[in-house]
Amino acid sequence: MASVPSLASTVQQRLADALTAALPEAGSADPLLRRSDRADFQANGILALAKKLKGNPRELAAKVVEAIGADDVCKDIEVSGPGFLNITVADEAITETLAARAADDRLGVPYAEKTGTTVIDYAQPNVAKEMHVGHLRSAVIGDAMVKIMEFAGEKVIRRHHIGDWGTQFGMLIQYLMEHPHELDHKDADVSGEEAMSNLNRLYKAARALFDSDEEFKARSRDRVVALQSGDEETLALWQRFVDESKIYFYSVFNKLDMEIADPDVVGESGYNDMLDETCRLLEESGVAVRSEGALCVFFDDVKGPDGNPVPLIVKKSNGGYGYAATDLSAIRDRVRNLGADTLVYVVDARQSLHFKMVFETARRAGWLGDQVHAVQLAFGTVLGKDGKPFKTREGETVRLVDLLDEAIDRATAVVRGKAEKVGLTEEEIIENGRQVGIGAVKYADLSTSASRDYKFDLDQMVSLNGDTSVYLQYAYARIRSIQRNAGEAQAIAHPELPLAPAERALGLHLDQFGEVLTEVASSYEPHKLAAYLYQLASHLTTFYDQCQVLKADTPHQVENRLFLIDLTARTLHQGMALLGIRTPERL
Ligand code: ARG
Repeated sequence: MASVPSLASTVQQRLADALTAALPEAGSADPLLRRSDRADFQANGILALAKKLKGNPRELAAKVVEAIGADDVCKDIEVSGPGFLNITVADEAITETLAARAADDRLGVPYAEKTGTTVIDYAQPNVAKEMHVGHLRSAVIGDAMVKIMEFAGEKVIRRHHIGDWGTQFGMLIQYLMEHPHELDHKDADVSGEEAMSNLNRLYKAARALFDSDEEFKARSRDRVVALQSGDEETLALWQRFVDESKIYFYSVFNKLDMEIADPDVVGESGYNDMLDETCRLLEESGVAVRSEGALCVFFDDVKGPDGNPVPLIVKKSNGGYGYAATDLSAIRDRVRNLGADTLVYVVDARQSLHFKMVFETARRAGWLGDQVHAVQLAFGTVLGKDGKPFKTREGETVRLVDLLDEAIDRATAVVRGKAEKVGLTEEEIIENGRQVGIGAVKYADLSTSASRDYKFDLDQMVSLNGDTSVYLQYAYARIRSIQRNAGEAQAIAHPELPLAPAERALGLHLDQFGEVLTEVASSYEPHKLAAYLYQLASHLTTFYDQCQVLKADTPHQVENRLFLIDLTARTLHQGMALLGIRTPERL
């Protein structure tokens, strides 16, 4: 079922329209309608309007009250203070709006008014290296944004810009050439864990030789040249490193319950053929200039601590291309060949200067036109409990897989603690433990604004109380349990029934889902969706405290409450799915 445009309007929007219509002299002035504690909503827009019209705000407000009188959304409206309007909406309008949402597959969530093509660059680990928490953030935030934007109707193209090129491969390839049996296996035979340990072993051995044997060092340097000039044998060995790494990456993404498709993995090497041209065009147009042998782009506002300009280096003085040349080529590809009108980069905030310079360079070169929007969705650092960047006790970066396994273990213990009461089988305990553990890690990442650092605290993440995914998952499972116990009783909306305060609060919050999603999709702020869902679960908790569902006063009231919790469950499920988090049916 397609979503009907009229469904897109919330009770709040309908009220705002009624207010504007009641005061023709307001034109298109915003009535500034907000949720309020005193009534359902308060409109503060009259004050500004009165100033503009040089009128008395209380008189204008009184005029609105009179004109709006017999509206079917507004039940009660009164003037307060200097000219505010306190408005209570009709119970019937709330239930009717929710019923229309419930009848729609998309829960009445509208598609974005303007959609286009977004290329999103996320989940970009590096070949032959262990993944760490920084890669976790990019993957989790990126995956959620992909889902949210697609739900809004955007065409989304994923790009996993993996680090698969560079001089470090010379040493690795040379070593493998001299020890040909080191990666001798059929891909299908190794697990992700084994693949990574193979790569680690090779890396250490190659490094040790490189540091101790001058001749090996020289052979490794020659190997870099062979790699860059496209020597076939060298490329074939390089490919084996990439393939081995992919086995490992995919196993981690799989653990993260995330789908990464092979054609979307276009690493740095994917742009090799464009690098020459990118640099030539930059030099010919004068955007880049030669400085101390290197090809550089300068910026008035980018200076180092010594006050000297810090350039973006696109080609080093030894002729090698760097990270920037690749990113500039990728922009050309994404805009010209993929037809992107938006480019999103989910990358660590510590790379912000790089992207600022890359975007500016691409604009000067004409590769990023005015109609193309480029943003870095920059994320902060993951901190340990001590508030310092997350490291092991030995000061090494923490292996992502270890963290995920620990989260799953903790979550499984939590699930097990309640399993008997719920009657879960061992199989269900394992599966739910996985969904709760991975959900906990994702939610912790997504529930704080991306740009901020956050503490990786597993105790807090799997806590049943507070702003955690487990709390939301329990809210969902509890509804499912009530539904299973409902017997013959159906979920049916009865708009004629008066609503209890907790039902109204829950209902009005449910009604906001579409608006929140629209905002999140355009502002790239998934934490606002997490906050919305947490509030939804909190409203549900209050509702349970104050309202009986199956033991409500009349059969119609039972049906209406079953309807309300069903829409709540569907909203929770949809919202969590957009964050990449599962909602087990029984917990
Ligand atoms: N591989 C890089 C890292 O691990 C992130 C790549 C970000 N994307 C890009 N287009 N530069 O830090």
